[in-house]
Amino acid sequence: MTQDPVPGLLARATRRLAEEFAALPEVAETSPDDAQLAAMANVLELTAHRLGDNYPYFHPLYAGQMLKPPHPLARAAYALAMSINPNNHARDGGRASSIMEIEAVAAIAAMFGWAQSGYLGHLTSSGTLANLEALWAAGQIAPGRRIVGSEQAHYTHQRISAVLKLPYSSVPSDNSGRMSLEALETELRKGDVGTVVVTLGTTAIGAVDSLDQVMALRSRYDFRVHVDAAYGGYFRLISDRLDEPARRAYAAIHQADSIVVDPHKHGLQPYGCGCVLFRDPGVGRFYKHDSPYTYFTSKELHLGEISLECSRAGAAAVALWATQQLLPLTPDGEFARGLASGRRAALELDRRLREDHGRWVEPLLSGPPELDIVVWKLKAEAPQRASALAQQIFAACGTRNLHLALVQLPEDWFRRTDAGVPHSGSELVTCLRSVLMKPEHEAWLDRIWQEYVAASQEVLGE
Ligand SMILES: Cc1ncc(COP(=O)(O)O)c(C=O)c1O
Repeated sequence: MTQDPVPGLLARATRRLAEEFAALPEVAETSPDDAQLAAMANVLELTAHRLGDNYPYFHPLYAGQMLKPPHPLARAAYALAMSINPNNHARDGGRASSIMEIEAVAAIAAMFGWAQSGYLGHLTSSGTLANLEALWAAGQIAPGRRIVGSEQAHYTHQRISAVLKLPYSSVPSDNSGRMSLEALETELRKGDVGTVVVTLGTTAIGAVDSLDQVMALRSRYDFRVHVDAAYGGYFRLISDRLDEPARRAYAAIHQADSIVVDPHKHGLQPYGCGCVLFRDPGVGRFYKHDSPYTYFTSKELHLGEISLECSRAGAAAVALWATQQLLPLTPDGEFARGLASGRRAALELDRRLREDHGRWVEPLLSGPPELDIVVWKLKAEAPQRASALAQQIFAACGTRNLHLALVQLPEDWFRRTDAGVPHSGSELVTCLRSVLMKPEHEAWLDRIWQEYVAASQEVLGE
């Protein structure tokens, strides 16, 4: 591991924070004595040893699942906030951190084109909870009406709908992983769809549903649009540099009724940081409740009044706020450049895989990645054999410290028949998958490629 700047940053800021409370009488007896310190140090060393049993998520050779290390500033700010341990349920529990949350969420809303006063939003502990709130509000607005999402939408939507007792239907997707608009219209014609879940950046391959065209259907059918951009939301900042269909989809995001984005995915935050936004602040009426315990010290909005979760980590808001101070959400800023760099790495890996001209690898028929996720199938006579090869190469890469991921995808996304049309079998095949979401992945691509080629040669015997 490289030199970690967090302890130094934290020591300085901890002294500054102590000065803020200097007027309080000292509580000397709570300081640990030498024996207690030694005991804690021992346990912490044991903890470090136990944590060694992990994939090296922080390293650029970890190029598997959707995992991006938090920014050192986010870690330092989170740890700093821990000496206060604020609770953003109410201002009583987290005065400063509630204001920081409101400011951080405003910057995210502005990224989607929503102005200061015209929306409602807050942080959540995850993308799942953020999506749950959006679908819960959808169910309050249109009780009993169906929620529909593509078969590539995150499985959480179906499960959340079951929790909320809302009927849910899955709409087929095409071979680019996007929701089929014809299939969606077939559902809309039935007249009972309340909300369409549109995914900007699917979990499996980073496909971007055609939000602009879904929006156009609203001239003929009456439905809400919920955008799940848990993974892909930040690409709004560089959407001008995406391919045309994705560019058009992102340009329509401000028309959505609700949006979810996860700062703990692409936003450089520790886990425990999702975000839900509603275009109509009137949605706040559904959250209304009386609390005999909490809302005493301020007439200002308490975030617990607009959130289904009660206690929430104020530290998550502090870390996000601090990160956004350093790396503002602007199209030409350093944060956006980091997104663009990961995407370039993904395009380059995809290009190298395609150069193999179908000798070992079958890339997606639909073309290069839309965001920064690359998937590819191993060439083999039968899907079972292709799946086995993917698993063997995955393992061989692992022994070389290159960590990829596996994903199951419909076989017809990869294979043409002899007549040149996509194969019509819908059998699932295990493929290799790489999420190149760290800005450093671009500089490490040659090394990633070198290890991948060596591992493939080992398995394929060439
Ligand atoms: C598109 C999408 N939606 C929702 C989720 C669920 O988010 P979380 O794991 O933060 O609950 C994910 C997770 O990968 C996702 O990719």
